[in-house]
Amino acid sequence: MPRSIFDFADGGAEEEYTLQRNERAFEELELLPQPLRGAAMRDQSVTLFGKRLSMPVVIGPTGLSGLFWPDGECCTARAAAAAGTAFCLSHGSVCTLEKLAGATAAPKWMQVFIYTDKGFTRELVQRAASAGYDALVLTVDNQLLGNRERDKRNGFSIPPRLNASTLAGMASKTGWLWRMRKELRHITFGNYVKAGETARISELAGRMASLLDPSMSWSDVEAVRKLWPGPLILKGLLSPQEAATAVKLGIDGIVVSNHGGRQLDGAPATLEALPPIVDVVAGNAAVLLDGGVRRGADVVKALALGAKACLIGRPQLWGLAVSGEAGVAHVLDLYRREIDRVMGLCGISSIAEIGRDTLFHKASRSAP
Ligand SMILES: Cc1cc2nc3c(=O)[nH]c(=O)nc-3n(C[C@H](O)[C@H](O)[C@H](O)COP(=O)(O)O)c2cc1C
Repeated sequence: MPRSIFDFADGGAEEEYTLQRNERAFEELELLPQPLRGAAMRDQSVTLFGKRLSMPVVIGPTGLSGLFWPDGECCTARAAAAAGTAFCLSHGSVCTLEKLAGATAAPKWMQVFIYTDKGFTRELVQRAASAGYDALVLTVDNQLLGNRERDKRNGFSIPPRLNASTLAGMASKTGWLWRMRKELRHITFGNYVKAGETARISELAGRMASLLDPSMSWSDVEAVRKLWPGPLILKGLLSPQEAATAVKLGIDGIVVSNHGGRQLDGAPATLEALPPIVDVVAGNAAVLLDGGVRRGADVVKALALGAKACLIGRPQLWGLAVSGEAGVAHVLDLYRREIDRVMGLCGISSIAEIGRDTLFHKASRSAP
């Protein structure tokens, strides 16, 4: 794919410290195999917001998936359905939330922001309800645009400023260009197109950026809670105090997330932020995690620290970019097989058996 699109997905904010920390935190945590527990049969299914999922990995929301493969969002959602897991649509999808809803039988979550135009927040929530989405994900760490310098260099900013070398880079990727030849003219932010108005992505991107609300507060979250009767998930929390407030307001789920290191560079690794949040939530909401989850072993480590499931961002996009629906199916299958193997090697038969004793505690090295 063109360098600018690769960088759009692969990159993070500024020095990309947080992006790197997300992955390194998994590297630094060790699993404690207990092979004699015996785990001939292993079941990795989990129940999340009333739905049984075949695995503890969910497709996270990623804007503009339709740039990676024609009809990218629908391809990914179909792969999730076939794998028996849930799919979360981004506010910034190319296709509309209504089209996606008709394309998949997978449990569907819809991701939205709090906008300066509260009427637009309400409209998106109501559209998600009418289209039959199973859960609403309110992302709270995107109240300003992150400073993604790779995108700036590539002209992939808002508004887009594509320079000659970026355009030449796109033209040189003939496989991608051929695949996308019919789509490119229609790439837009589908959910933001108003009847009778422009669908030009550059204009919609500007409108979207101007709708972000750095003054948002808990009263906005309460307003969304009143609008949406189903499972409501806050995505982008790293503070235990905020997690405690979310529980008090009746939030059903929390995604411990730093937006894959794309927003505040210097934010902690999500795996390190997870345990104190799990402690304050104390089972009163489902705690999920994303950021740097690259292997089945990473999923098991997050579950060992109390997450109920993990979301994946970049890995599903790479599968999509390589071969569409089949590519995402392959990525999910890799996670499934790796989780199964790790469970077998650790002596774990079911997700309920994964706990803090699944981890090797370094302090025990020096214990007498
Ligand atoms: C290209 C791209 C687009 C994204 N778009 C959104 C989005 O629209 N809404 C959102 O809540 N998160 C978005 N995210 C963040 C992901 O949902 C997720 O938090 C993050 O990618 C997880 O980290 P990982 O990529 O290391 O798995 C995006 C991430 C990427 C890579």
